[in-house]
Amino acid sequence: MIIKTAELVAVGVKKAQYPEDNMAEVAFCGRSNVGKSSLINFLLNRKKLARTSSTPGKTRTVNFYQINDEFRIVDLPGYGYAKVSKSLSENWGDMIENYLKDRQGLRKAFLLVDIRHEPTEKDVIMYQWLRHYGMDGFIIATKADKISKNEAAKSIALIRKTLKLGLDDRVLPISTLKKTGFEELMAAIDEVVGKPLEI
Ligand code: GTP
Ligand code: MG
Repeated sequence: MIIKTAELVAVGVKKAQYPEDNMAEVAFCGRSNVGKSSLINFLLNRKKLARTSSTPGKTRTVNFYQINDEFRIVDLPGYGYAKVSKSLSENWGDMIENYLKDRQGLRKAFLLVDIRHEPTEKDVIMYQWLRHYGMDGFIIATKADKISKNEAAKSIALIRKTLKLGLDDRVLPISTLKKTGFEELMAAIDEVVGKPLEI
């Protein structure tokens, strides 16, 4: 996949604001501050297209980035950040669920978890939600530069155990800082974009 153009085409908090066509989409979800927006910028080779922050709670809307007018990458708002007001965090569930359900173009949703931490209860729920909506389990373990290879193996085992992953589920360590792990991610995206949904 060669990215020629990438542009933010829609920002929404409810279904009516999400694009209506059935263009293929690949979504990224996970806790606040896990690195979703950084990963999208890296994939698109655009440092500031998706706004990032060292303070959690930066992305609070569903953001749709259109690539080559062929498919979209969707940045979902992060969860699990206490300082986001209650109404907003309740709204978060609606936002994500309204996105996931009946989304004809959705081909793949990646769940991001921080490689250094055991997945939280909310991560477990998010994983189960994704499976419920027909996604396969593809977990991205972010910030892999922060730990050694040895520790990474242990962390991945813990991630697998806590999320109760099956043998077919994948956990891919990546680092936007060191630029590692991306070939596999790009290959997974290539695989689903441009190919009709398997029913
Ligand atoms: P919300 O929008 O709040 O949901 O967060 P997000 O998941 O979009 O996180 P974001 O991309 O804004 O990144 C959060 C912080 O993690 C930033 O300070 C990034 O620089 C940092 N970060 C992201 N990826 C990596 C990585 O691979 N390695 C390291 N060391 N830091 C990273
Ligand atoms: Mg973000």
